[in-house]
Amino acid sequence: MNVSRIIRRGNLTICICDNAAAAAAVVADHACNAILDDPKAKLGLATGGTPVPVYEMLLERQSKGLADFRNATTFNLDEYVGLSPEHPQSFAAYMRDNFFTPAELNPDRTHLPPGIADDIEAAARDYEDLIERHSGIDWQLLGIGNNGHIAFNEPGSLPNSRTRVVNLTQDTVNANSRFFEADEEVPRRAVTMGIGTILRARAITLLAVGPNKAGAVAAALERKPSLECPASWLQQHADVTFVLDDAAAGGLCR
Ligand code: F6R
Repeated sequence: MNVSRIIRRGNLTICICDNAAAAAAVVADHACNAILDDPKAKLGLATGGTPVPVYEMLLERQSKGLADFRNATTFNLDEYVGLSPEHPQSFAAYMRDNFFTPAELNPDRTHLPPGIADDIEAAARDYEDLIERHSGIDWQLLGIGNNGHIAFNEPGSLPNSRTRVVNLTQDTVNANSRFFEADEEVPRRAVTMGIGTILRARAITLLAVGPNKAGAVAAALERKPSLECPASWLQQHADVTFVLDDAAAGGLCR
């Protein structure tokens, strides 16, 4: 039994799990259900530390014949400005290593926002158009930042924002520095899907684990949607699930 408690609030479902592995297994179930519903599903994917065990579980399930992601189309949430797809700390490299290559996805159907372009603002708008031309995302995976960001929509991002270039807050730069050797190497800007882009996905699953996320999760779920907490706009989505371990759920009034 992976879920110890399910709370339903209108269109919002909160699954509270005993530990991080159980929470990742629930999210892996959601991804597999999306691909079982439609083997050509368009999946919105996230990077960061939180989803690593999810990708491991998806690979394991595919190797056992329980799921097949090879015909999926994917769109990642974000990419650092200035990093090429070959850069080892780019999100493109993360996705290739953790999922795309071992899951044998067709590179023509895996998409990330551009990190480098002559006109990066125009390239960001082209990414939004590409998602539109594919008729949008069927299932979107999200993490959450300690400051409540989703993708790299930092506090102050508008709920109708679209894919664009953003400045990362010092908080986010500090959190990302663990992946880089020197502080000066940590990118200060990113191309991110907007909150409005994310809200157009047909179903959304947000995964948060650990006590560091408890404040952001509580702000997202217990207060009225506001610019201060970008994840709080998810309350307005028709089909969203927060999957939490006990520690990340620690700030909720239960
Ligand atoms: C990653 C992303 C970010 C992360 C968030 C949490 O593609 O969009 O919003 O989900 O920064 O990162 P971790 O999981 O490393 O705590």
